[in-house]
Amino acid sequence: MNKPSHPKVNVRTLQKMKVAKERITMLTAYDYPTAQMLDEAGVDILLVGDSLGMVVQGKPNTIPVTLEEMIYHGEMVVRASRRAMVVVDLPFPVGQLGVHDTLKSAARIMKETGCEGVKLEGGAAQADVIAALVAAGIPTIAHVGLRPQAVHALGGYRVQRNEDQLKHDAWAAESAGAFALLMECVPAEAAAKITSDIGIPTIGIGAGAGCDGQVLVTNDLLGIGDGYVAKFVRPYANLRSIATDAVKKFREDVRRGIFPSDSESYSSKE
Ligand code: KIV
Repeated sequence: MNKPSHPKVNVRTLQKMKVAKERITMLTAYDYPTAQMLDEAGVDILLVGDSLGMVVQGKPNTIPVTLEEMIYHGEMVVRASRRAMVVVDLPFPVGQLGVHDTLKSAARIMKETGCEGVKLEGGAAQADVIAALVAAGIPTIAHVGLRPQAVHALGGYRVQRNEDQLKHDAWAAESAGAFALLMECVPAEAAAKITSDIGIPTIGIGAGAGCDGQVLVTNDLLGIGDGYVAKFVRPYANLRSIATDAVKKFREDVRRGIFPSDSESYSSKE
C-alpha cells in the first residue's frame, strides 16, 4: 500500500494539538474547489456542515437537508482534501433516531464519502449514540450549545446560557468517547472553563477565544452571503462584491462588442 505523501490530520493529531496548546482551525466546505483552497491554506478540519441547506441551497434552516445531500457534498470535499481531516454532519433527524438507525446512516456516510468522522448535534441526550458510533470506529464530534437542528425547540437562534446543561453535555460527550466537542453560541467564560476541564479538544463558534479551536461557515468568512452576519463572524473578504463587479464587467464588454477579442477567438488561418 502506498504511503500518502501528505500525512492527514486525524484524531491523534488534534489531541496532540490540544496538549501542545496549538489552536485548531476548522471551516465548512461543500464542494471540490473550495475544499481544495481551504486544504491548501492549511485548515485542519473541513466540516461538510448541514449549514449547506442555508448557504448553498437558500433554505431557511438546516432541517430540510437530506442524508443523500450530505453524501453528495461530502464525497466532493473528501476528494479535494490532501491534509485536512474531513468531518460530515449527520443531518436532521439522523442523529436522533437511536443507536441502530443513527449507526446505519453514519456508516453510509463514512463508506460512501470516505470521510474521517461525523458530527452529531447533542450531548448528554445522545451519549448512547455517540458511544455506539465510537465503538463502531466512527470518530464523532458532539455539537452542543445552540443546536441549529433544534431551532424550533430552542425558540430561535439564541445564545445558550444554561451552564450546568453545557457542562453536563460536555462531560457526557467526552465520557461517551467523542473526539472533540463543538460549542456554538455559548458564553465565552463557560466555554473556556469547559475547555480547561475536559480532555478532548473544544472547537467554538460564537464561544469566545478560550476554546482549543475555532470554526466558521466559510461563506460567512469570505463574504459570499446576502447581508446578514452573526456577531461572532469576522468577514475576512467580500467575495460577493468582487464577483458581482467581475460579472458586471463581463456583461458590459459583451454588450459593447469588446469581448471576445481576436486573441480570444480562433481563426481559420491558424
Ligand atoms: O453545519 C454547520 O456548518 C455547523 C457549523 C455552524 C459549526 O454545524
